[in-house]
Order: sequence, then C-alpha cells, then structure tokens
Amino acid sequence: MDPIKNPFSPGAGSPPPELVGRDPILEQARVLLGRVKQKKPEKSMLLTGLRGVGKTVLLNQIERMARSAGYLTISIEAHEEKSLSALIVPHLRSLLFELKRIAGAFDKFKRGLAVLRGFIGAFKVTVNEVSIGLDIEPEEGTADSGDLEVDLANLLVVIAEAAQDRKRAVAILIDEIQYFDKKELGALIMAMHKIQQLQLPLVLLGAGLPILPGLAGESKSYAERLFSFPDIGALSAKDAAKALQDPAKAAGVSFQPAALDEVFRLTKGYPYFVQEWGYQAWNLAPSSPITKQTVENATKTVIPRLDQNFFRVRFDRLTPGEKNFLRAMASLGPGAQRTGDIAEKLGVKVTSLGPIRSKLIKKGMIYSPAHGDMAFTVPLFDEFMIRAIPKFKG
Ligand SMILES: Nc1ncnc2c1ncn2[C@@H]1O[C@H](COP(=O)(O)OP(=O)(O)O)[C@@H](O)[C@H]1O
Ligand SMILES: [Mg+2]
Repeated sequence: MDPIKNPFSPGAGSPPPELVGRDPILEQARVLLGRVKQKKPEKSMLLTGLRGVGKTVLLNQIERMARSAGYLTISIEAHEEKSLSALIVPHLRSLLFELKRIAGAFDKFKRGLAVLRGFIGAFKVTVNEVSIGLDIEPEEGTADSGDLEVDLANLLVVIAEAAQDRKRAVAILIDEIQYFDKKELGALIMAMHKIQQLQLPLVLLGAGLPILPGLAGESKSYAERLFSFPDIGALSAKDAAKALQDPAKAAGVSFQPAALDEVFRLTKGYPYFVQEWGYQAWNLAPSSPITKQTVENATKTVIPRLDQNFFRVRFDRLTPGEKNFLRAMASLGPGAQRTGDIAEKLGVKVTSLGPIRSKLIKKGMIYSPAHGDMAFTVPLFDEFMIRAIPKFKG
C-alpha cells in the first residue's frame, strides 16, 4: 500500500493516529487541571510504565489540554547528565516573561525575576556553559541558600504567586522523571507539598519508569499522599485492534480480524510495537484488506528494525558484565525473575550482584516489580538479548 498514506507512527513520542485506551487517564488529568485552576487540592499525577507504552505521547496530550484550559506550561525532559536547576531555569524565565505580557500589575513579575536571579546565583546555573543573564538585582534570602529543597520550593511559590496574580495557572510537565537524583526528586516533592499547602495554582505532571513510585517514596515518605501514580500499560486486545483498524479505515483500508489477532499475539498490546507492526504491514500489503500473511511477512522487517532502533541503543550502553547479567535473566524467560535464579544462572552469589543490579536500575534497563524480583523495563527485551548473544554458557 502507498507508504505516503501510511497512517502509523512508530517512534519515541510520535503521536499515534489514534490515542486509544487512555480515556480514564485523560479524564483524571482534566479533573486535576480543573481543580488546581480553581485552587482546590488534588494529587499531582506521575504516569509510570515501561518504555514504549505511550507515556510521552500522553504527557504531550495533557500539555495540550492544559494550554487549552488556559494554563501556562513548561515542558522538560530529565536526563542523566543535566541538573534539575539547569533544565528548569530557562523555562521559568520564559514563563515569567510570558506572564509579564499578560496585563496586570508588574511587581509580582519583578519579584519573580529577582528571586529567579538569586536562585541562578546560588546554583551557578548555566545553560550550554553560558550563565543566564537576567538584568535585575537578585532578591536576597528567598531562593538563594544553596539548599535545593528550600530554594526550589520558594522559587516555585513565587512563580505560582506571579501566575495567580495574573489569574493564570501553571503546569510543569516533566518526562523521564526517574533520571533526577534523590535530592532533586526530594526537592520537587517538597516544592509541590508547599504549593499544595498554600493552595497555589501550580501543578506537576510527570512520567517515568515503574521505579518512580519507589524512588519518590524513598526520598519523601509523604510522596504518596501528594501524587497519584497511574500505571500506563499495554493495550487490551480490543484497544490494540482499534489502534490499527480505525486509522486504516479512515484511509480506506482494513485489517482482517486474523491479522489483528496476529499483531496482538506478537506485540502483547505494547503501543510502540503495535505502531511498528501496523506500519510495516501497511507498506508490505499488496492491497486491502491486510491479511495475517502480510503481518507474518512484516515480522521479518520489524524485528531487525526493533533491534536496531529500539533495543540496540540500550544494549550498546552496557558493560560486558551488565550484558551478562541481562543475558542470564533473559534465558530464564519473559516476565519478572528472582535475583537468586539469575545469580544461579551466572554461577555467582546473590550478594555479589548488588552493584551491577543497581547500575542496571540506574540506567533504566531493569526494575524491581516486587521485593527480590527483577524485570526488564523494555518489553520483549528478553528475546532481543537472546538474539544479540545467542550463545550463553549459563
Ligand atoms: N494509546 C496509544 N495507542 C496507540 N499507539 C500509541 C498509544 N500511545 C502511544 N502509542 C505509540 O507508541 C509509541 C511510543 O510512545 P511514547 O509516548 O514514546 O512511549 P513512552 O514515552 O512510554 O516510551 C509511539 O509510536 C506512539 O505513537
Ligand atoms: Mg517517553
């Protein structure tokens, strides 16, 4: 079929032709945004799930909802190498200038800027090695102590007050939140705690790997009272079928039911894989309807593409010891595995695996769904590990 008309969109953060199965989450976000805007208490949302389930796409959709509800939004993506301060400061600066353009009194805006200036000084924030210039004297004593927990909270309070002054609300959206270190995560949680107590119109919406609730709880025990952690998972068979059939039909093409069943069998409903199979099957199909045979043929193109684009980048960041650990885990099959069984496969003591295991968790490769268990954060990674390292002595 004509590849130009191909409706499917495999790729990190690529909006799917149809966002299926996520209505309950979007409804929860709508209520949250509505309540915070009216300064009513509500838990902030941190979406959690494996890679490729559609967290980024959802977060982007929620940002659009926030904007159309009149919010000013800031959207950042955490990563291992950058500090929270360096990521957030340029956005807070733009936000203050955006507020300035909205009619209203200027003193709150000026105060916001002066406090931000103090914060920049205290944390020596630079962006691309250039310190951020703000042509204003720093306000002393509000957000310049150098203790991130205190300063971030004070800074966000001042920003939220400036927004409130303009009768506006602020939504801060953070993707890949698990990459912040414990201190930064703790500071964010503290800041949201303070914002909630003061009932200011500022909301945090985030997304991260399934380790996120654990990390948040570890850094602040009251985190669970402040945040809800909706679990974003695979699509049901019905939703996966809809994700394929509706966009195809809109383009005058259809999938045979057996073809839809086959995609579900292969992908287990993981959104990224559904898009990938849909995309390849479309391109390979000689005509409508798309048959099970075409889906089977597509698998031959999909697997090498997944290996190259999705799995390989993660694999290449691993040390030989880490690869070995994951390979041993993969040979135990899909799903969660006991650390004890992995150790046995490797022929080592469980206690010796601690450091490697925590490196792999930090790199976002594995997580612990339950005490003593380990699972891959990337669906189907076990099968990939076996393809990547076919021979394993374990
Ligand atoms: N609800 C959905 N229905 C169908 N496809 C989806 C859905 N959510 C995401 N996708 C697709 O899944 C892929 C991964 O989405 P992304 O948001 O990058 O996942 P994550 O951030 O969880 O890794 C994208 O190709 C996207 O189009
Ligand atoms: Mg993402």
